[in-house]
Amino acid sequence: MWTEVFQQSHRVSLRLAAHQVMFESGYLTLFGKELGEDRRQAREAAQKALVLNALENFKEFDKIFPALVAGLPIHVFKSGYSARENLAKTMHAENLCKRENMSDLISMRMILNDSLSTFNDLSKARTHVALLWASQANTLPATFWSLFYLIRSPDAMKHARREVQGILEASGLTVDPGNPTLTLTREQLDNMPVMGKKTRSPTATGLQPPAVRTSDSVIKEAMRLSSASMNVRVAKEDFLLHLDNQEAYRIRKDDVIALYPPMLHFDPEIYEDPYRSVTVGSQQGELVAIEGDSSVSLGLSAAGWSLPEAPLESELKE
Ligand code: HEM
Repeated sequence: MWTEVFQQSHRVSLRLAAHQVMFESGYLTLFGKELGEDRRQAREAAQKALVLNALENFKEFDKIFPALVAGLPIHVFKSGYSARENLAKTMHAENLCKRENMSDLISMRMILNDSLSTFNDLSKARTHVALLWASQANTLPATFWSLFYLIRSPDAMKHARREVQGILEASGLTVDPGNPTLTLTREQLDNMPVMGKKTRSPTATGLQPPAVRTSDSVIKEAMRLSSASMNVRVAKEDFLLHLDNQEAYRIRKDDVIALYPPMLHFDPEIYEDPYRSVTVGSQQGELVAIEGDSSVSLGLSAAGWSLPEAPLESELKE
């Protein structure tokens, strides 16, 4: 997919490339393909157009999401509303039924929608739009920022490359631009501590607390630096919320509580020198620094509920 994106143009914005590749792979993983194994060029092109169209509608809908969370009615936003309806049309049961290799998640939701809910067909389709949004809204910015920081750090890139090469060699796979499909197992993906999310034990990293509490993978570190997600909860009953500092808050039923984890992302008691450098351990337990100087990390906008406006559009050249 990356090859296809770069074939479209000699210069591609990093954000556009990350969005196109991740949206397409996420969309097809969840909803399958209409053409199944039919790989004729015209069918492939139609499939690609459908996904790109869905991406445009997704972006339009994503723009108004913060306003919807704030309680504004969707009808106020003409283009956001029609973007959601366009997405919903493609997700009517009659259209989804034509698709092959659909994920268990969506198949199961279709069964539950039909057996347990009282929704009409359009409302059922809208529930799939909600899941599409949930699956992409954080994935796209997380991918962009991971690549952004990786490209900025030659050391981290070196270790990431070494890790990927190691996995490919161990699996007897070679990279062929003519046939860019590589099949990796879940276990292999989980076994990529530099790139991935696996948390390594202090003995594996050679680190001791508190240093072990620094982020130890490119993805986790990118999320530490750029995430702005909030966890919002509504209290179901009155209770006393005790905090570590011995303070307590009396919470009433129906109070809305917003937790903001990024507050901890720059806490020097948790992350040593949180604005300047972070550590990414290689498989051998060596440490590499990704430079995270404050001019970049402080300027970041949300990677949470909406797509971020990048402080700069990184461009890749062929
Ligand atoms: C890097 C990728 C992702 C990140 C950083 C991320 C992060 C989050 C966060 C912070 C929440 C809110 C949690 C809360 O308030 O309790 C959330 C909710 C959710 N995410 Fe993700 N997510 C990612 C990818 C995905 C994917 C790929 C899917 C689906 C295939 C998905 C489906 C959901 C759903 C359904 C919810 C709502 C859960 C609920 O409220 O019950 N997410 N995600």
